[in-house]
Amino acid sequence: MADPLLRVENLVRRFGGILATDNVSLDVAKGELHAIIGPNGAGKTTLISQLTGHLLPHAGTIRLAGADITHVPAYRRCALGLARSFQITSLLLEFTALDNVALAAQANDGHSFRFWGNARKESHLRQSALAALDRVGLANRADVLVSELSHGEQRELELAVALATKPQLLLLDEPMAGLGATESGRMVKLLQELRREVTIVLVEHDMDAVFALADRISVLVYGRVIASDEPAAIRQNAEVRRAYLGEQHAVTRHG
Ligand SMILES: Nc1ncnc2c1ncn2[C@@H]1O[C@H](COP(=O)(O)OP(=O)(O)OP(=O)(O)O)[C@@H](O)[C@H]1O
Ligand SMILES: [Mg+2]
Repeated sequence: MADPLLRVENLVRRFGGILATDNVSLDVAKGELHAIIGPNGAGKTTLISQLTGHLLPHAGTIRLAGADITHVPAYRRCALGLARSFQITSLLLEFTALDNVALAAQANDGHSFRFWGNARKESHLRQSALAALDRVGLANRADVLVSELSHGEQRELELAVALATKPQLLLLDEPMAGLGATESGRMVKLLQELRREVTIVLVEHDMDAVFALADRISVLVYGRVIASDEPAAIRQNAEVRRAYLGEQHAVTRHG
């Protein structure tokens, strides 16, 4: 069988006495949308940060398409096809939507050392930025300042920024956070489209979105993967229901 696109083996990360990542092993196949769920503080963001290289593990390995990237610095992982969107918005508020995406496209081009005010003037950067905006439905908002975009539009823009680096693996940390029902619905629809083109790891608390989107779901509790399976099996898993899904999420919603 071919290597999975992402293979995580026995990853460990501590913060003082806390085992934030406790021997996590995880495979994500190419083309899969793999959701990671779990209670607050379970270690989801810590895991994503190790995948992107913003945080180094204390033990374990991370492989991308077979290559060991455990010690590859973050900026080179981006060039290898990893992109992330942050749980906390990382957009430049006083720049336009187009500028934000063009800057990401420029960084991917390996020209980030140049004065970045030039990004929007270079036509190929402008073209790929516009294409990324178009993919998230923001083409007509290109010249609007980020501070003037709605919260939902900002989250879509974060996706466009990630897409501008032409990733093969997209890591999304709570893209639905703070969105209302209508905006969440739009985001789910958008992710349905994007998943056809790019492998996605999705951290999300919105269980309707997770169960609508995921091919597989891994459940993290206290830094440990307690289950990794197809949605139907996760829904039935007694330990998962006890530890996380519980009654309030009405696991019965779809079945
Ligand atoms: N920089 C840090 N320094 C110290 N402790 C940290 C740090 N980052 C995370 N932690 C701790 O590690 C554990 C995992 O946190 P993490 O943010 O990864 O959880 P999470 O699953 O993303 O939670 P949430 O659903 O609230 O976003 C928590 O106990 C948290 O307090
Ligand atoms: Mg988090």
